[in-house]
Amino acid sequence: MLVSGAGSNLEALAEAIVVDPDFGAEIALVVSDRPGLPALERAAAAGLHTVVVPWVEYKDRGTFTEAVCTQAEEHGADALVMAGFMRILGPEAIRMFPGRILNIHPSLLPAFPGENAVAHALSHGVKVTGVTVHFVDEKVDHGPIIAQAVVPVLPGDDEASLHMRIQDEEHRLYPRVVKAFAHGRLKQVGRTVVWT
Ligand code: GRF
Repeated sequence: MLVSGAGSNLEALAEAIVVDPDFGAEIALVVSDRPGLPALERAAAAGLHTVVVPWVEYKDRGTFTEAVCTQAEEHGADALVMAGFMRILGPEAIRMFPGRILNIHPSLLPAFPGENAVAHALSHGVKVTGVTVHFVDEKVDHGPIIAQAVVPVLPGDDEASLHMRIQDEEHRLYPRVVKAFAHGRLKQVGRTVVWT
């Protein structure tokens, strides 16, 4: 699992795995791009292996991507699950984990890709926003959509209150998706993901 922030999705996934004997997957390794993150503390508290691949020590995206993927491979990971990972991986990752990289994004893609999606949705004045889990392809927040959940924008919402309700949905949705993926239930047909 790849993280750069608070690690609430990591924690939700780790809990889902613990309580569900039929989950069908484990978190082989937690990778972050810098040290000292709450996500790393949460991972360690959950008894997970952690490794920091410091972005600043790599001269380009390609070597950084290879370092991340090599760590994942060496720890026996079959897939990369990204939650708030603040670095864009290069095409090397897609070559090493084809069709096996998942990301979660706090908007209803293709609306509001990139950073600050919650703030952009608010300032655009949308009435609903939400969560998207998608396969990762070469473009940012662009790959085939696996699942989405809708979150209404309420009068008086600010970025923090809206993001909190979006994260509640994330914590429900991502474990469901990862379990389905682990059970081989997600089939890509062009840009469409079919749940089998
Ligand atoms: C989530 O809102 C996710 O959608 C976005 O970054 C945030 C990560 O949160 N890509 P956390 O670190 O899992 O708490």
